[in-house]
Amino acid sequence: MQEEIIINKEQLNSYNSCVSDLIETKIVQSMDKYIQHGDITCLDHCINVSLKSYKVCKFLNLDYKSAARGALLHDFFLYDWHIRGSHVGLHGFRHSKISLQNAEKHFNLNSKEKNIILTHMWPLTLKPPKFKESFVVSLIDKICSSKEIASHIYKKSIIIPFKRRKQ
Ligand SMILES: [Fe+2]
Ligand SMILES: [Fe+2]
Repeated sequence: MQEEIIINKEQLNSYNSCVSDLIETKIVQSMDKYIQHGDITCLDHCINVSLKSYKVCKFLNLDYKSAARGALLHDFFLYDWHIRGSHVGLHGFRHSKISLQNAEKHFNLNSKEKNIILTHMWPLTLKPPKFKESFVVSLIDKICSSKEIASHIYKKSIIIPFKRRKQ
């Protein structure tokens, strides 16, 4: 149950021009193979966070392009964290670093984009965000994640039992 993002055509074109070189690559699209929360894939989640970060940063007169790009790659860890053995160490603590390593391997990023990826889990990871855009993305990520998880729990515990009832 993905919530709708209200965005007009002009904003959508502008957003697309910020991220098209990233989002059109196979490696970014491959995030659609991995579940992030409930039935939301990493790609769904990253686009969700990226679009909202773009909108908020544009409204606040911040660097919306770096925010959109950093947010799109903030969970670019490229594994299913639910599967044991898919990664080393605690996912919550380590995936921001792994996402940055992957992003740097495939793309040229500016320092703001790198910081957005590296600090999005703050305060879980101790390094605080260095830029206002990093704070915005970190906050929006937490809001989107909470909504995605709440929506999954609601669907699983309320909606699905009704669907399974036999007449
Ligand atoms: Fe994350
Ligand atoms: Fe995230």
